[in-house]
Amino acid sequence: MQTLESLRRRHPEIRPDFTIDQHWERYNASQHGVWRTLFDHQASVLKERACSEFLDGLEKLRLVSDRIPNFEELSDSLVRLTGWRIVAVPSLVPDEIFFDHLANRRFPAGQFIRSPDQLDYIEEPDVFHDVFGHAPMLAHPVFADYMEAYGKGGQRALEEFGALKNLARLYWYTVEFGLIEKPEGLRIYGSGIVSSRAESIYAVENPSPNRIHFDLERVMRTDYRIDDFQESYFVIGSFQELFEETYKDFAALYRKLATGPTYKPGDVLKSDRVHHSGSHSYVGGSHAAE
Ligand code: PHE
Ligand code: CO
Repeated sequence: MQTLESLRRRHPEIRPDFTIDQHWERYNASQHGVWRTLFDHQASVLKERACSEFLDGLEKLRLVSDRIPNFEELSDSLVRLTGWRIVAVPSLVPDEIFFDHLANRRFPAGQFIRSPDQLDYIEEPDVFHDVFGHAPMLAHPVFADYMEAYGKGGQRALEEFGALKNLARLYWYTVEFGLIEKPEGLRIYGSGIVSSRAESIYAVENPSPNRIHFDLERVMRTDYRIDDFQESYFVIGSFQELFEETYKDFAALYRKLATGPTYKPGDVLKSDRVHHSGSHSYVGGSHAAE
């Protein structure tokens, strides 16, 4: 991660909270075109695969394929719905800065957009992942509260408990890669899935990964992969369930987590409530060639 000083060379206006101006007028036609290509593709793939809350969020925020959204306009809509804003940052920000933004209902979104030859894989979150992926869920009142609580919990985990790793796993397996159980089947709400062309199909349809019911301690003990499709997804019953499970004091849980097992990404435990036991037939790395 870069320091404020080094980022200042490219972003002279950068502020101590790492926010910059979006400079919406600087995006060119080809950059808006990358947004359009990704948006159109995902909108059709997600119609039958994302949860209704995500699809409703896209509509309520009037996110469209034509152009990269202007964060000011988007924030005006979001503030009216749930009190959240989208602020521009150059790239990933330090943990304490990230948590402070979330705790104050600001979602830091990467200002840049991937290049046309990186449609499937990027190393740092860009505006497509951050805005298309995250903003729609922030328009949902219960999820909006969960994200603020997560930010506040992050500050505690960092300052009092040294439990960042446990809390990061919770974020990964819910906010980024979460599935939800619906009458029509398992549906996506995780931002890392909805913004990925290949994983949005794999996560719901491929027989390879495990799909296991969400359990807070179990999730907080489970390592994750950052460089390939997930080997396990965790399934919530509802956003209310997720909120209730996490809106309690984690102090005792953090003490418990200091000892005991850590699970590998593909493990299935006897105590798991399994929606689907993975065939593990997917060979790692092969999606990069798609
Ligand atoms: N309840 C957590 C704590 O006591 C905070 C939290 C809420 C964390 C929601 C994540 C999600 O620290
Ligand atoms: Co994200």
